[in-house]
Amino acid sequence: MQSSISLTEQTQYYIDLEQKFGAHNYHPIPVVLNRGKGVFVWDVEDKKYYDFLSGYSAVNQGHCHPLIIAALTEQAQKLTLTSRAFHNNLLGEYEQMITTYFGYNKVLPMNTGVEAGETAIKLARRWGYKVKGIEANQAKIIFATGNFWGRTLAAISSSTDPSSYENFGPFMPGFELIAYNDLDALESALQDKNVAGFMFEPIQGEAGVVVPDEGYLTGVRNLCTQYNVLMIADEIQTGLARTGKMLACDHENVRPDILILGKALSGGILPISAVLADDEIMLTIQPGEHGSTYGGNPLACAVAMTALQVIKDEKMEDNAEAMGILFRDEIKKLNSPFIELIRGKGLLNAIVIKQNNPEASWALCLSLKENGLLAKPTHGDKIRFAPPLIINQEQILEAVRIIEKSLATL
Ligand SMILES: Cc1ncc(COP(=O)(O)O)c(C=O)c1O
Repeated sequence: MQSSISLTEQTQYYIDLEQKFGAHNYHPIPVVLNRGKGVFVWDVEDKKYYDFLSGYSAVNQGHCHPLIIAALTEQAQKLTLTSRAFHNNLLGEYEQMITTYFGYNKVLPMNTGVEAGETAIKLARRWGYKVKGIEANQAKIIFATGNFWGRTLAAISSSTDPSSYENFGPFMPGFELIAYNDLDALESALQDKNVAGFMFEPIQGEAGVVVPDEGYLTGVRNLCTQYNVLMIADEIQTGLARTGKMLACDHENVRPDILILGKALSGGILPISAVLADDEIMLTIQPGEHGSTYGGNPLACAVAMTALQVIKDEKMEDNAEAMGILFRDEIKKLNSPFIELIRGKGLLNAIVIKQNNPEASWALCLSLKENGLLAKPTHGDKIRFAPPLIINQEQILEAVRIIEKSLATL
């Protein structure tokens, strides 16, 4: 898809460099950013934009949150990496904080989200063999169609999106797919005694903010308990106040057996992810059986502790809930002939463009950019709107005016 907007020489220069020297594995909106603060980012021409992607929900706390940056810079001058060959003075404190925060016995720190997903699957398989008594190498993990949890070979092995998996085979065995938001399908899959875990997103983010029916999370919890299968919630995108609760599972007061976090655990500063579980699961992995050079590094610990603290101190859950309701109401009021529907929870929202029209959604994103708001289509005809959780009412209303003006250009 070509952009139909004219770019300045300077902007084109940076885009050309990426095109010439970088792999072509992304198709970005043609804007070159060099600065961010709160809900705003600026391009190299000093034009200001609302950031309605928030680094795919990594920047929940807002760009360059002063307290997180202070924690980063202070720790960066003391000690950044020890590896886990040695202890460091922040890891234990961070582990204590995050396990208390979410109510689990233990945490296993990793870096990217996809690594946390891989870790959760390893834990579930190990638990399956050691605790549940599954025969060697027979463990199965169930996933839902439309899932997205990253780009490693394991992650794409569970994908139903051809652009993720095509021509990358052979794939990981022991994975099975069922329809999302279908408790009957889950119950029938769980009849198999070799199932160790069901890994799913409480709201499917990359699929276009697919919100399951009310009662789905409770149903998943009950079925997993009934069939002795681990409920693994991938809250990498939905967690940390994004949907108006600390975790999306909190909407139904449901506690997963394994909780996966990433993205906003650093407030968008560096890759930090975490897997939380109780001892029965976590202690099935012993020294030398899993790890990561950077996982649990002191810089990440300092950043994550502050990133978690500011979510609570600044009541970001409540703001996401209130601003999300306002945003969806205002978008509905536009009555746009181009919008099929708006859906979401808290500040994780998406519009679906009518008649499955990917060209229109790309054109709308270009127009939004021209008018000062950045968003990106996901799966062609859907546009996710997920600003930092510190956005206020006045800013939401201004953003909706930008969306209205941009829709008018379609
Ligand atoms: C739900 C979910 N899980 C996992 C991931 C992978 O995270 P990362 O890109 O940090 O590996 C993503 C990324 O978008 C995600 O949305």
